[in-house]
Amino acid sequence: MIRIAPSILAADFAALGQAIAAAEAGGADLIHVDVMDGHFVPNITIGVPVVRSLKKVAKVPLDVHLMIEDPDRFAEDFVAAGAAMLSVHLEVLPHLHRTLQYIKSLGAKAGVAINPSTPVSALEEIAGDVDHVLVMSVNPGFGGQTFIPRSESKIQAVRALLDRAGNPAPIEVDGGVDTSNAARLIAAGASILVAGNSIFSAADPAAATRELRAAAATATAAR
Ligand code: DX5
Ligand code: ZN
Repeated sequence: MIRIAPSILAADFAALGQAIAAAEAGGADLIHVDVMDGHFVPNITIGVPVVRSLKKVAKVPLDVHLMIEDPDRFAEDFVAAGAAMLSVHLEVLPHLHRTLQYIKSLGAKAGVAINPSTPVSALEEIAGDVDHVLVMSVNPGFGGQTFIPRSESKIQAVRALLDRAGNPAPIEVDGGVDTSNAARLIAAGASILVAGNSIFSAADPAAATRELRAAAATATAAR
């Protein structure tokens, strides 16, 4: 199953409700919410109160990507605010196993995000415990960056690792995803496509959501 997760980072922050409605009209499966703290990444975006408001208007689940230094401190608040899926960065968590169990105990799906410079092998011991893996295909912090080509083989390696662990957890790919690379990413083993600019910088975000799904569906090895 291919899922499209439009990232509202690229939407007009004064009109997030309309952005979500447009993405949903185009068939979005999830709404991807990028939380940045100005420490883990050189940018600040939104926090718990905004997620709480988004939850009131979104019909599809919220996929919250925590690009913050201390996710343990805030996970409970984000789940209470409405996060159905929570992704935390491996790079900031010395006790990742504990964090994942904690997020699951809160009732959300617990995912691990990895930066472009983080090796797939860093997931080795945790591969059986993740509900999803988020492969960053740009350096986190900003929307509208260029897709890093190496991410494609990285997705294949993560898929192989999860398969070896007997874990069918989906792989989410985030950064520079558009109609030109969607099919290759699905063929490599991703099944959730996060897309910010390719959807919300388009004149018609609903149509762009449909077009991204159509492009993804052309993958020959679609899972
Ligand atoms: C980047 C964020 C992404 C971002 C993707 O740090 O994690 O979710 O919104 O934006 P695009 O699709 O424009 O690269
Ligand atoms: Zn993201």
